[in-house]
Amino acid sequence: MNRSVLRFAARHFWRDRAPGWCYLASRGLSVETMRTYGVGAARNEWRRLRNAATRDGFPLNDLTEAGLIRTSERSKSPYDVFRGRVMFPVFSPMGRVLGFGGRILPDFERDGTPKYINSPATETYDKSRLLYGLHQARVAIRETGMAFLVEGYTDVLAMREAGYQQAVATCGTALTLEHAHLLAWSGAHRVFVAFDGDRAGIEAAGTAAGLLRSVGLEAPGVVLPEGQDPAGLLASHGRRAVWDAIAEAEIGASRVAV
Ligand code: UTP
Ligand code: MN
Repeated sequence: MNRSVLRFAARHFWRDRAPGWCYLASRGLSVETMRTYGVGAARNEWRRLRNAATRDGFPLNDLTEAGLIRTSERSKSPYDVFRGRVMFPVFSPMGRVLGFGGRILPDFERDGTPKYINSPATETYDKSRLLYGLHQARVAIRETGMAFLVEGYTDVLAMREAGYQQAVATCGTALTLEHAHLLAWSGAHRVFVAFDGDRAGIEAAGTAAGLLRSVGLEAPGVVLPEGQDPAGLLASHGRRAVWDAIAEAEIGASRVAV
């Protein structure tokens, strides 16, 4: 696979970032945070990336293999997979673009359109062993021995916005043993699990914590108000509410450790 097409796509989405940034700003995220994560946007056009990449000399096959375009039965001409979305590039720990997560922009929400689309599995993109945000979190995780595991892309950004640089998320999949090993390898000793405060989130958090403990990590749970996730908490109650939730989990974890 030609990896440079992924870098090309990340730059392309970055140039088109305006609607993505406006939307995330409306949810309380700063330009600095969006810049840190290289957030971009895909316009709501069928072949914008495809045409730009073709003009730059990439064969269609490169785009197909990278999961960026596809062909349907009806349309024989390949079209962009990501359209009308905020684009979150997923990086390797060392900063190579491996794939993307794309969240639908409110203007283009329709019944049947999934809220998020993630890159399909490719040679480079194996969601069971990559963590969103690890590239940006790596140094802080090593320095503090601490990490935050959250559910979504926007939660990672919200944690950063609240001042925590160590947040990572799985990309639309449950935590695996490989993810847990990756966190340990990154220098984490204590991984705060801050999943959505709904039934599914609480259950998934328990499973994730069990896996993390099985590789020798401490895994205190962060209790979020009913129905909230870190991004929602930040938007509705501000940074202090996030700090409160983390402080409570930290105090609980220290008690257990003493
Ligand atoms: P959520 O449904 O909690 O979305 O899914 P979110 O992160 O809170 O989204 P915002 O804040 O409204 O933008 C959590 C994660 O699950 C994956 C994505 O990785 C998402 O960030 N997911 C969710 C999918 O892969 N596909 C979906 O259709 C929905
Ligand atoms: Mn959520």
